[in-house]
Amino acid sequence: MPTERIRIALQKSGRMADDSLALLKACGLHIAKSREQLLCRIKELPIDLLLVRDDDIPRFVSSGICDLGIVGENVFAEEQCAPQPLSARIVERLGFSRCRLSIAVPEGGTIASIDALNQKTIATTYPALLQRFAKDNNISVTILEMTGSVEVAPRLKIADAICDIVASGATLAANNLSEMTTVLSSEALLIRSTATLSATKEAIVTRLLSRLRGVINADDSKYIMLHAPQEHLSDIIALLPGSESPTILPLQGIKDKVAVHAVCRESVFWETMESLKAAGASSILVLPIEKMMG
Ligand code: PRP
Ligand code: ZN
Repeated sequence: MPTERIRIALQKSGRMADDSLALLKACGLHIAKSREQLLCRIKELPIDLLLVRDDDIPRFVSSGICDLGIVGENVFAEEQCAPQPLSARIVERLGFSRCRLSIAVPEGGTIASIDALNQKTIATTYPALLQRFAKDNNISVTILEMTGSVEVAPRLKIADAICDIVASGATLAANNLSEMTTVLSSEALLIRSTATLSATKEAIVTRLLSRLRGVINADDSKYIMLHAPQEHLSDIIALLPGSESPTILPLQGIKDKVAVHAVCRESVFWETMESLKAAGASSILVLPIEKMMG
């Protein structure tokens, strides 16, 4: 009998596609054949990737066609905000592809506050989130639902404002629009169906999740090595950002100094290194951590 495999839905092309694949690659998952296929087989684990449009990912997951999905919070939140939410839930926030869903208005126009949006027409591909925003802010707006190119709506005089994704802000700037307020902050999410999986599939999910968390946690973490005079050891350890019980090692032939090795779970800035040096540390090395497993 062939072993059961899990299927993960990913964006085929677009803002999240490359980062999603890079994350899976860091977890040791490599696509056997070309990315041009709809369904790609992973050699190392019983996993297949289904490359689809991002808007389709929540539904593929909730319907059970895929067991997991990597999707933008913007897309997932819009589905979950609709009158009939899908049976899918967030497993992990992945921290990449950060962007925001914002309301933008023509530069130099008359709309300068959320209240001034009352009775206006707003173009968007996110009607459910916009409707919720209007309700939360006690305003009433006419929603012009579009499937794309929302940024042209004000210039065409078919809308007074837009509610769309902003990442770098280049699209808004090119269309003389200015961001007024944020409706939702978004990042990539790992989602799964609320349905129960077979024990075999659940074990594959658990294994993948442990690797994913290992990569995500390692991202911000650093390994610090330094030499510290015995007399200032506690001061120096206190300066290490987010580290638990560092390793203290003797130094061959030196009595008054020890080596300190520690995993710091926060970024190590130049300022931290300067403070360590000022406290008496020397030979300070900061190394990146590729993977972690607890
Ligand atoms: C969004 C949005 C803008 C652009 C904004 O589209 O609709 O066109 O990104 O990014 P910027 O601030 O960096 O210019 P997206 O790439 O998500 O494509 P889609 O709407 O077709 O999924
Ligand atoms: Zn899209």
